[in-house]
Amino acid sequence: MHPAQKIFMYLRPKKNSLFQAFMNILLLGSGGREHALARKIAQSPHCEKLFIAPGNGGTSLHGTNVPLGVNDFAAQQAFVKENAIDLIVVGPEDPLVNGVYDYFTERGVAVIGPSKQAAQLEGSKAFSKKFMQRQGIPTAAYAEFTAENFEEGKAYLSKHALPIVLKADGLAAGKGVVICESHEEAQKVFAEMILQKQFGEASSRVVVEQFLSGIEISVFVLTDGKDYKIIGHAKDYKRIGEGDTGPNTGGMGCVSPVPFAEGAFMRKVIDRIIEPTISGLHKEGLVYKGFVFFGLINVEGEPYVIEYNCRMGDPETEVVMPRLKSDLVELFIQLNKGELGTAEVEIDERAAATVMAVSAGYPGDYEKGKSMQLPDAIPADCFLYHAGTKQDSNGQLLTNGGRVITATALAPTIQQAAALAKEVIAQVEYEGKYFRKDIGYEFA
Ligand code: AMP
Ligand code: GLY
Repeated sequence: MHPAQKIFMYLRPKKNSLFQAFMNILLLGSGGREHALARKIAQSPHCEKLFIAPGNGGTSLHGTNVPLGVNDFAAQQAFVKENAIDLIVVGPEDPLVNGVYDYFTERGVAVIGPSKQAAQLEGSKAFSKKFMQRQGIPTAAYAEFTAENFEEGKAYLSKHALPIVLKADGLAAGKGVVICESHEEAQKVFAEMILQKQFGEASSRVVVEQFLSGIEISVFVLTDGKDYKIIGHAKDYKRIGEGDTGPNTGGMGCVSPVPFAEGAFMRKVIDRIIEPTISGLHKEGLVYKGFVFFGLINVEGEPYVIEYNCRMGDPETEVVMPRLKSDLVELFIQLNKGELGTAEVEIDERAAATVMAVSAGYPGDYEKGKSMQLPDAIPADCFLYHAGTKQDSNGQLLTNGGRVITATALAPTIQQAAALAKEVIAQVEYEGKYFRKDIGYEFA
């Protein structure tokens, strides 16, 4: 038995119930995703103490922020020992790709996430494309190039249909994908990525992909590497401007559910994508005990994988967590016992929408440190999730990032949820606040 699994056999019984496992949990990350996860984790009777490293001005409402870097495993290990941490939940991709799972499971601490090897599904586009090919999972046609076959790549590009999608192989903080409308642009970007290492080592290998046209949707699964449960799905609004215009951002808002995704389409997603992915992980011995984020595109009713992420999405988590009625920590316990197959997942029938407020200038340069005022009270079934915020030494809330804070609302319809979320975010005050007023527009 793996040492991390043993932990779950010896969980201390809770004082008031002999049969309830309870745990000290460390959550890594500092965005809106982590605030939404922190709130959900803290609601669980299985959570005794929650720590968030490094957290933000909102996560501290649900646990204790600790000033540790997400990639500083040695410092985290000292903290884990001192505070008898039983479980580490990982928000962002960097620590997962850097091997946080392996580091801590080798030391007997359970981690929600994939092994370093399996995290390559997000950490290397070429790895994920090959995996999909081996498993027969629908995705855009592709080829990969490095400095060694650079000339071959140039010739390949010159014959490629437009537009051409170029992707840095490795992690590039969401900036490594360029969609080129002309062959000249494609040749230029290709050379910048490979020869000038525009994204450092991440672009020393480039994936050239067929362009797929359709509507994107994110589907989230929790897996123990053998069984899986769908915990939700969402549509992310990535562009800065209303009507989906202007530069890409990390996400300006989300809605869930996505009407076209339910029914026949989701059946195809399960049969052609989710099940072959999970069974492929199992067959290939890729250890995976965490969230899988399927970044999909609906091309005339047929689902294709655009990318895998080995974590939850941000801001998707801010609509997926409020709709998840099941106890997330209980699901983590079942996952670690390898019993996810028998777990029950209950999702709220209501719709959720989230509207993100950002700093002036985002996704380009922006200023931080603007003083913030939050509304005294917000309507029932609405939540404010902090992203880039922090408290100064006097307890004053300040902006501390490009994406600052998001308002989520649950309501019977997407339109109602979006209207309510917009009403709440409008009441947050700081200099330079901007938010999209059209989240969910196509479902009106
Ligand atoms: P990724 O970092 O792989 O999520 O790509 C970023 C964004 O680029 C995606 O969310 C899509 O909007 C777009 N994209 C990526 N690959 C393709 C593709 N093959 N066809 C069309 N759009 C794509
Ligand atoms: N919202 C997209 C992501 O988290 O990657």
